[in-house]
Order: sequence, then C-alpha cells, then structure tokens
Amino acid sequence: MRAWRKALSGLLAAMMVISLAACGSGGNEAAPSGDGGGAKSGEKVKIVYARGKDVTGATLKIVEEFEKRHPNIDVEFREMPADTGQSHDQYVTMLSAKSDEIDVFDLDVIWPAEFAQAGYLLPLDRFIERDGINLDNYIPGAVEAGNYNGQQWAMPKFLDAGLLYYRKDLVKNPPKTWDELLAQAKELKGKGGTQFGYLMQAKQYEGLVCNFIEFIASYGGKVLDDKGNVVINSPETIKGLKKMIEIVRSDVVPQNITTFTELETHTAFIEGQAPFTRNWPYMYALVQDKNQSKVVDKVGVAPLPAGDAGSVATLGGWLTGINKYTKHPEEAWEFVKFMTGPEGQKITAIYGGSSPTYLPLYDDPEVQKASPLFSEKEYVEAVSKAVPRPVTPVYPKISDIIQIEVSKALAGQQTAEEAVKNMEQKLKEVLGK
Ligand code: GLC
Repeated sequence: MRAWRKALSGLLAAMMVISLAACGSGGNEAAPSGDGGGAKSGEKVKIVYARGKDVTGATLKIVEEFEKRHPNIDVEFREMPADTGQSHDQYVTMLSAKSDEIDVFDLDVIWPAEFAQAGYLLPLDRFIERDGINLDNYIPGAVEAGNYNGQQWAMPKFLDAGLLYYRKDLVKNPPKTWDELLAQAKELKGKGGTQFGYLMQAKQYEGLVCNFIEFIASYGGKVLDDKGNVVINSPETIKGLKKMIEIVRSDVVPQNITTFTELETHTAFIEGQAPFTRNWPYMYALVQDKNQSKVVDKVGVAPLPAGDAGSVATLGGWLTGINKYTKHPEEAWEFVKFMTGPEGQKITAIYGGSSPTYLPLYDDPEVQKASPLFSEKEYVEAVSKAVPRPVTPVYPKISDIIQIEVSKALAGQQTAEEAVKNMEQKLKEVLGK
C-alpha cells in the first residue's frame, strides 16, 4: 500500500479545478422553504429516503439508529436500482415533475451540478450554518463535489476509488501493470477453484465509464482538460482503450463480461470464482461477511495496475441531498445531518465498508478494524490521486457518448482510433466546443 502515498491536497486541487469549471452557468438560487411542514410537537412525521440498492445492510442500521434518537420521525427506505444511471433517470422523472414522494436521497458525485442547476435540491447552507456543522472536518474534495455556484447542495457521505482485489492464497505479488495482471490472470485462471482470471465492469452503463477512465488515465489520456476542452483524441487515450479492449476480449474475463456491473462482479468474486477483480471499497465488507462469502480472510487490496503513466483510480462516491419539494425540510435535514455526520458515516464504514468523508473517523479504532483500507493513511491519500469524471450539468450526455462508443469498440464493431474520434466529435457537439 506504500505505492499509495500522495498528498491529500491533490484531491483538493483536483476538485477545486472541477468546481471552478462547474461554476459560471445558470444555477438555482431558491431559498430553503423556511420551517414549512415541520412536525407540530407530538406529531409523528414520515420521510422517505431513497438510495440505490444496498447489499450491505448499512442503510437499515442507519435508519434504526436514527429513529431511536428521533422517535417523532419515521424513515421509510425506498430502494432504487443498483445501476446509478437507472436511479438517475428515475430521480429526474420524479423531480422534474416536482414530486414530493421522496424527501431525502443519495446523489452520485457526478450529479450535484446537474441537479442543482435543474432546481431539484434544497440548498443546505442555512442548515449547515445554523447547526454549526464544521465542513473542515470533511475531505475537502468531497465537500466540493456537493458545492455548485457557491452553495452547498448535498452533504458528502462516502468516497469511492477503484481498487484491485486479489486472492492472497493464490497471488504471490499483486501485479503492478496491466500486462502483469493479464499474465498472472492467465496463469491463475482455473486454479484454486476459480473459473476466470479477472473481473471488471464492462456493461454499457456508468461503471463502464469509470473503468474506461482508469485505463486511459493510466496511460496519460484524458476526456477534458482543466479548462473543459475536449482532449480525448490523443495517442495516450488510444493506448489505454486498446489495453482495455485487449483485456475485455481476452479469455481471462468471463465471456459475458459486457453484462457485468458491480453486482455481478462481487457475486462471482465472493463465490471464489476469480483471483483478481476491480471494484470499489464496499466489496471488502462483503468479502469478510461470513454469511455470504467463501473467501473470508483470503483477500488483499492493492492499487489498480499501472499503464505508462502510473496507476489511476476513478473517483466515485455519494452525497445526500434534500428534494426541494419536500414537505418536511426540517426532518429531512435531521436525517441528512445524522447520516452524513460522525455517527451515520461510522455505520456506513463499519457495515457498508465505504470510505468516510468525515476525516476524524479514520482515527476511530472500530472504523480502522472494519476494513484494512481505513487504517492505511496511504489509502485516504490514494483517494486523493483518484481522477474525477467531468463535472458539468451535461454529464449524463457525456457519459452516454462514452458508454456507446466504448461498448462498440469492446464488441469489435469499431477500432480504438475510431471510437476516440467519434467521442471527440460528439463531445465537442454537446459541450459546444
Ligand atoms: C459507485 C461510485 C459512483 C459510480 C458508480 C458506477 O457507486 O461511487 O460514483 O458512478 O459506482 O457504477
């Protein structure tokens, strides 16, 4: 894990660039709707909290602990699809119709700019100030991810970064490069009860974009530069995409790898079907769950393999926000405050395996025990190296373009060069550059 040494300020710097890029257009300036809809004393209020499928049980625990502390608030958990893109589309349908059927919901790091600009979110600054929430206790980049046009629209809940999981009982030295990974995966495929060499997310959905960015960035490729110009058509991006195609079309991955999301990945991995897999930190909680995993205590975690330019993880993670049309802003905020504060994030770390954004938790012995990652200073610092996806209100269009063109290349319907050229042209159209 020593390879993960990197300054936390890197994350801050990266996210500052993004938030600057995100500033400057439109923005919804709606004020919070006062205390409207708050419970009258003694009256019980129900709020609906939505998030994507939770395979860990952390959400139910958070709701249970919150309700114990707030006997006047009932939280109904509405489980959304595991696929972030599908959840996104359902929220957009609901929120663009000004529906109040959900009060609180989790936002993928790629959404706040879009949702804030569309006016779907209640600004949180007033609550943050009133309740003395010290945002300096949070990983700066995670706070920035919820900030748009100078307002805080969502509170950071946890951060994600792509990791390489490997079977300690089968792998002597985790691979340092993509070529080493390919070689080791070929050699180990079929050994120790495995069927495959490597698992990743190659379905046409958001996870594909995350995997793609890791490949191209590890060879020095980028989608946009710091000023938001489209720079995807470069020899570096082409090289990275070629490596991705080589792995996806090799026989180390399952034949149906282009149907794999995180769900298929972790299911196969905890069944013991592969020596290597790429996934987010939450999978460690499942690996160590005796009720579902066949590989308890057999798994190590390392940085993703490097290309010419080093090892790169895509920055992921989730924030929590409030529906602007909620009838219960006060109760909704209480829940957001609890879930994204020290107590809620501790539950997310311990039961959900996800990395806190609330920094003091990294010194908490129970959190450190939950995942080997959390006691490694280098891990928190590694997140700082993670590469964000473009932050812009039109992100869904950018993502769609990448998903379609990369999928065609993976299916052998076009070359890496053609894919990159098509992406360049379509991205320029969408971004008006
Ligand atoms: C994880 C990440 C999120 C990303 C998604 C892709 O949930 O936290 O940022 O978009 O995976 O599948």
